[in-house]
Amino acid sequence: MEVVIAGGHGKIAMLLHPMLKEKGHSVKGLIRKEEQADDLRKAGAEPVLVDIEKEDDISEYVGQADAVVFAAGAGPGSGKERKWSVDRDGAIKLIEAAKKNGIERYVMISAMGLETPRGDEVFQVYQQAKAQADEALRNSGLNYVIVKPGRLTNDAGTGKVKLAEKLDRGEIPREDVARVIAEILDKDSIKNVEFDLLSGESNINKALLDFV
Ligand SMILES: NC(=O)c1ccc[n+]([C@@H]2O[C@H](COP(=O)([O-])OP(=O)(O)OC[C@H]3O[C@@H](n4cnc5c(N)ncnc54)[C@H](OP(=O)(O)O)[C@@H]3O)[C@@H](O)[C@H]2O)c1
Repeated sequence: MEVVIAGGHGKIAMLLHPMLKEKGHSVKGLIRKEEQADDLRKAGAEPVLVDIEKEDDISEYVGQADAVVFAAGAGPGSGKERKWSVDRDGAIKLIEAAKKNGIERYVMISAMGLETPRGDEVFQVYQQAKAQADEALRNSGLNYVIVKPGRLTNDAGTGKVKLAEKLDRGEIPREDVARVIAEILDKDSIKNVEFDLLSGESNINKALLDFV
């Protein structure tokens, strides 16, 4: 399978590339900084240089694929404007590119708790931007999976998760989020669903199959 990941040098994306490669998939990562290209190659992904904020139509960079993953984000240091231009509009540009290029499957890295925005103004805008991107994907006609992790940590993954339509707040290592996405991409039966995701007690495969 060919997979294109927007936010190709993100922390989750960098963990996901070798997992997908090991499963025999080929991966392209969209990045905006040329100096990140070698990191992607070392992780098993082909870098494609594009700034998803500057381009209106990213379809030629996305190209042909079986699935896309939105793993980009403006990040904690950014202001309100970039929450809209990356977290919402970047995700929507990837939806439009997938539709234009006939790519049916879209996995969104969203976040839990978006329906009750909390925190300071910038964080509230981030949550609204993510919620609007999710809504655009639900209405896109694409075959979608919206993964809504709790607070992300850089701890080593445990391979054990808890996933459900709604969970109380908690956290999960990025490595386990990457593993969940790698497994989703292998399972065509998982489609048009969304779930909160935290560390837990179930093996990832079992948790996914019990949920769908
Ligand atoms: N932090 C949390 O606790 C939490 C919780 C739930 C969900 N999430 C979501 O999880 C997702 C992935 O998290 P992560 O920690 O792996 O993200 P990350 O390490 O912050 O990576 C985000 C990537 O997006 C890229 N990006 C930003 N603007 C771009 C642009 N204009 N064009 C192309 N690429 C661009 C960044 O590249 P540059 O190096 O060029 O900036 C970066 O590599 C994000 O969507 C985040 O919102 C986070």
